Amino acid sequence: MGIHDEDLQRVKIETDLSGVVSQYVALRKVGQRWSGLCPFHNEKTPSFSVNAEEGFFYCFGCQKSGDAITFVREMEHLDFVGAVEWLANRLGIALRYTDTSDGTNRKERQELTDILEKAADFYHQTLRSGTSAGKVRSYLRSRGFDSETVDQFRIGYAPDKWDALASHLGIPTPKLEAAGLGRPGQRGGPIDFFRDRIMFPVFDTNGAVVGFGGRMLPDGQQPKYKNTPQTRLYDKSKVLYGLHLAKKHIVEADEIVVCEGYTDVIGCFRAGIPRAVATCGTALTDDHVKLMTRFAKRIVIAFDADGAGKAAADRFYGWEDRHNAEVFVAAMPEGADPGQLAEENPSALTDALAAAEPFLSYRINRVLDKSDLSLVEGRARAAADTGAIIAEHPNEVVRDQYLIEVAQKVRIDIEQMRRLVKKPNPTRHQPTPPPGSPPDNSDTQQSTQPPAVPQAELNLLRALVHDPETVTPLALPAMFSNPIAIDAYHLVTTDGWREQIDETPTAATTLIGRVLVEELDADPIELVSRALDAVINRWNTELRYDVHDIEQLRQHQPIVQWLTHRQEEMHSDDTRTAAVEAIVDWLRNQETTGEPDQPSDQNLN
Ligand code: GTP
Ligand code: MN
Repeated sequence: MGIHDEDLQRVKIETDLSGVVSQYVALRKVGQRWSGLCPFHNEKTPSFSVNAEEGFFYCFGCQKSGDAITFVREMEHLDFVGAVEWLANRLGIALRYTDTSDGTNRKERQELTDILEKAADFYHQTLRSGTSAGKVRSYLRSRGFDSETVDQFRIGYAPDKWDALASHLGIPTPKLEAAGLGRPGQRGGPIDFFRDRIMFPVFDTNGAVVGFGGRMLPDGQQPKYKNTPQTRLYDKSKVLYGLHLAKKHIVEADEIVVCEGYTDVIGCFRAGIPRAVATCGTALTDDHVKLMTRFAKRIVIAFDADGAGKAAADRFYGWEDRHNAEVFVAAMPEGADPGQLAEENPSALTDALAAAEPFLSYRINRVLDKSDLSLVEGRARAAADTGAIIAEHPNEVVRDQYLIEVAQKVRIDIEQMRRLVKKPNPTRHQPTPPPGSPPDNSDTQQSTQPPAVPQAELNLLRALVHDPETVTPLALPAMFSNPIAIDAYHLVTTDGWREQIDETPTAATTLIGRVLVEELDADPIELVSRALDAVINRWNTELRYDVHDIEQLRQHQPIVQWLTHRQEEMHSDDTRTAAVEAIVDWLRNQETTGEPDQPSDQNLN
């Protein structure tokens, strides 16, 4: 997408995966592959494996797998193109873009970025040393923003003039407008968009300025905040303030704190919680959540989620379901936001965040807090209200756990509580773990886990990917019983499967990733023969249950005998190959005719 295919291939071919991985993980050579501690989950013994020759990695602990591009995407939190660019840069390959408009696009975006960077510098310098900014400096100081904070977030001041920035930049008005910084005035000259405002630059994930939030001064002009309008670089429904600074802390803590405002993020950092981000004057969107879950699955909402109340429930549960997120809520003291707490009582902020609860638990506790549980009526009311809230949760096991807990607290019978938790909307579905997620022991998830792949089928897949020339002609779908193994078989027998495999990870690609890093430590034909053994045994068992009368048994007898002979031949080295080929032929025939059939006459002995 976007990158010239030749260049993409060159990057893929020239990249040495073990070299890339070594930048993050200490690798040790074990046999033909490399092994180390997995960077994607916590572990003490190495289960992360790299097949440098195939350019593939797989973790036996968390089942993450993929190629160099996947690896860089995960480690550097980049998209596909970004990861290819990262690798190309490392190799010194200059990429060409397919669409020339794509190249122009990039140039134009770069130009906008340069303008925004210059603007950020201008505002920042003005705040630091401008004569007009004295009142702003004292206001910020009064709120406890020291100069370190001002530098860290590149906070600035837009002077109280019509065209301070425009004349500083001296660029054509359309460019100023495209960057979201100004517009044509009535007299023809450009007018600044932000005037007499405290400026908070908004950065993308990599720290490039994409827009601004401008706060009015205490005695300034409403509205309180003005934000950059939608531009080619700035989309408020996708950007998260503070993420470029917070991302490494978010990954470390495996938790992201979401606030409402710029000053809340800054407050969190100052209170020693550097894993905070904020939306920029908009409600949290699905895109925001998707972006957040690239860094951590645990999302702590640090604003008034109660206000959003029931309306938020559907959205929060939807995120948990679609993005495998866990939404927690930190209860803020009445009327306070994180920014205020950081100024007035930082330890209250840390406490509130440490006491964050799962969204459902948070909602139940708010109801219980407000109820008078010493009265029968209060308990009945609380039971009904919490029952309605619990009913909204899409997972039955979760609902059950909570209703048992609440029944005890409001002192009513569990069965009665169960009746109060009415059935949820049937259109909602149970969250299913994404492929490759670590095994979970909750009941619902266990029942959705596919059966384990039999060893013989794993071995056959291993033989297929490591010695396709020998094994592909001998492998058939009938040799697989496990649905994931069947998918994997179809994938690896498709042309160009190595290109497809890292695009959308599925259970099948994960399985392939695993067999790719395993060594082929046995003769491939022997591995095929073992898979055939299993097929024949299965077939014999089925036959035993299928046969209803002597006549049927008599009909099948020659096949059973024939197969038994071949099976014996498979067990000795010098007859194995011929026997395997004969059985495969026979199986292939079954596939075309459907019915268990007699082996062809010349084979019958
Ligand atoms: P301080 O009062 O300086 O601490 O800022 P705050 O972030 O706490 O302000 P507030 O809680 O009022 O607003 C939270 C966020 O909502 C801000 O950071 C803005 O992104 C957004 N916001 C607030 N007021 C306005 C407004 O008038 N217009 C727009 N577009 N966004 C606003
Ligand atoms: Mn505030």
